[in-house]
Amino acid sequence: MRFLVTGGAGFIGSNYCRLILKKYPDAQVTILDALTYAGNLSTIEDLLHSGRVRFYAGRIQDPVVVNGLIKAEKPDYIVNFAAESHNDRSLLESGSFIQTDVAGVHCLLEATREHGVERMLHVSTDEVYGTIDEGKFYEDSPIMPNTPYSSSKAGGDLQARAHHISFRTPVVVTRGGNNYGPWQYPEKLIPFFVIRLLDGKKVPLYGEGTQVREWIHVLDHCEGIDAALHNGKPGEFYNIGDESNEKENREVVRILLEETGRDESLVKKIEDPRKGAHDKRYSMGTEKAQRDLGWKPTRNFETSLRETVRWYKDNQTWWRAITELPSYKDFIASFYGKYLGEDL
Ligand SMILES: NC(=O)c1ccc[n+]([C@@H]2O[C@H](COP(=O)([O-])OP(=O)(O)OC[C@H]3O[C@@H](n4cnc5c(N)ncnc54)[C@H](O)[C@@H]3O)[C@@H](O)[C@H]2O)c1
Repeated sequence: MRFLVTGGAGFIGSNYCRLILKKYPDAQVTILDALTYAGNLSTIEDLLHSGRVRFYAGRIQDPVVVNGLIKAEKPDYIVNFAAESHNDRSLLESGSFIQTDVAGVHCLLEATREHGVERMLHVSTDEVYGTIDEGKFYEDSPIMPNTPYSSSKAGGDLQARAHHISFRTPVVVTRGGNNYGPWQYPEKLIPFFVIRLLDGKKVPLYGEGTQVREWIHVLDHCEGIDAALHNGKPGEFYNIGDESNEKENREVVRILLEETGRDESLVKKIEDPRKGAHDKRYSMGTEKAQRDLGWKPTRNFETSLRETVRWYKDNQTWWRAITELPSYKDFIASFYGKYLGEDL
């Protein structure tokens, strides 16, 4: 089984590679990753030493790179994790989101069709549906994204849909909830808060922290993606979330404070930098995935979140090296500087 995993040096992609190498003894994995600020070879060092993984640096929107790689590596499957993935960064600069999340997906779809790749799985997000006060979004709910990030992801989803309808390209799309777990780039909410709390630094909470997010452990998400790759129907979309884990941000922060041994004095409430309304609640119904894919999430949120905190405690060499890089420091300073002031 030959996999081309794009964005495999990032958070979810690297977890997915570990999962399939364990699950399929005959799996050979090629990773294509542009190594943006979010992609690090240190995240996949163990994989590169396994003898079953080959790494190429390149961008998914570059047809020369993508076509050359597919001709050389002849993958059965393409699984696309490559993305500009941070909402807050998309508020500072959004052009790269269009390039990767729309043009990049289009380039992979074209290559899938041209080279007769057996199946492409495109990883998307619940954020394409926008915000919902009550009830849940289903796969046929309208697409109403509210940020440059989520609108670029919606653009990629629509490319996939149209490619399947127009050309019968064998693509399946999954939409995941908010992920947590090991190897997440330390500017995203959970690792950012954990590493700051471990160092006794203040954490910035938007407003009262009442935004609701549905969390899914990264391995539950990766298992759902793999189930959709093998059991999903081309042209279909599948919500991969964990409905039992709908939490207000302040509740997540409470567990993080407890597990790091800190208290409320380290929480600094800040004005929400999103000028439009901050998406209040994301929530997805996952009946279709559970019925058609033979998948369901199994991990308990609180237990797994506490395990995740311990993982960051035990893997400080990895994240401390990243937090020393200018790409990390500059973003934190430019985004949070005015809110955290001397607490930065
Ligand atoms: N993190 C979440 O909570 C979450 C939830 C639902 C869906 N998703 C989706 O899952 C996917 C992976 O998310 P993640 O959290 O692992 O992101 P990430 O930012 O940790 O990793 C993205 C990876 O893609 C690479 N990349 C970026 N632009 C590229 C390009 N043009 N060509 C090749 N590689 C490129 C980066 O170097 C990085 O390794 C994304 O599509 C994201 O939208 C994420």
